[in-house]
Amino acid sequence: MLTVAVLISGTGSNLRALLEAAAASDFPARVIAVGADREAEGFAHAEHFGIPTFLVPFDAFGSRAEWGAELGAQLRVWQPDLVVLSGLMRLLPADLVAEWEPRIINTHPAYLPEFPGAHGVRDALRAGATQTGASVIVVDSGVDTGPILAQERIPVLPGDDETSLHDRIKPVERRLLIDVVRRIAEGDLDLDAVASRTP
Ligand code: GAR
Repeated sequence: MLTVAVLISGTGSNLRALLEAAAASDFPARVIAVGADREAEGFAHAEHFGIPTFLVPFDAFGSRAEWGAELGAQLRVWQPDLVVLSGLMRLLPADLVAEWEPRIINTHPAYLPEFPGAHGVRDALRAGATQTGASVIVVDSGVDTGPILAQERIPVLPGDDETSLHDRIKPVERRLLIDVVRRIAEGDLDLDAVASRTP
């Protein structure tokens, strides 16, 4: 059974979908802890499923490095096989990424390498893109530059705003994330092999 720690910042709708999938007896992974950089709404989903939570408030630390050191200490308590960033809206310090890479993955609401960063949906709209997408990647030391594990195109419709487009992207992200976690757990997707193929 693959053990997973999930890090969030917001509503945690993708976390909820993963928790629902993992509740099925035949799903090969279990979420063992959920962490956040702020009092995230998504903690409620973890509590609903009886999953322990940990809060490492970014604002309580003097620097990203100090915050990352405490986040790393919390993750080490749980020793998950996989760390999933599911809407964590903070860059992790490079040493924390290096400790977990390639067993740390991220969901992103765009078709990477298009529109990386904190505003993937808004940036696609502002660029006038006619299509965008959803991606699941391995986290590396760059901003959304790691190896792509799964992605899918999603059209931008006339009249779309950030909310309507993001609302159509999220269900695809959820499906891709659950599928990637399943494939990692079943050994169909070998993160070490993926990482070693990437220059
Ligand atoms: C998701 O769309 C995720 O891809 C995005 O935040 C959303 C979180 O939604 N993450 C990023 O943009 C990271 N750059 P949720 O809290 O409802 O799951």
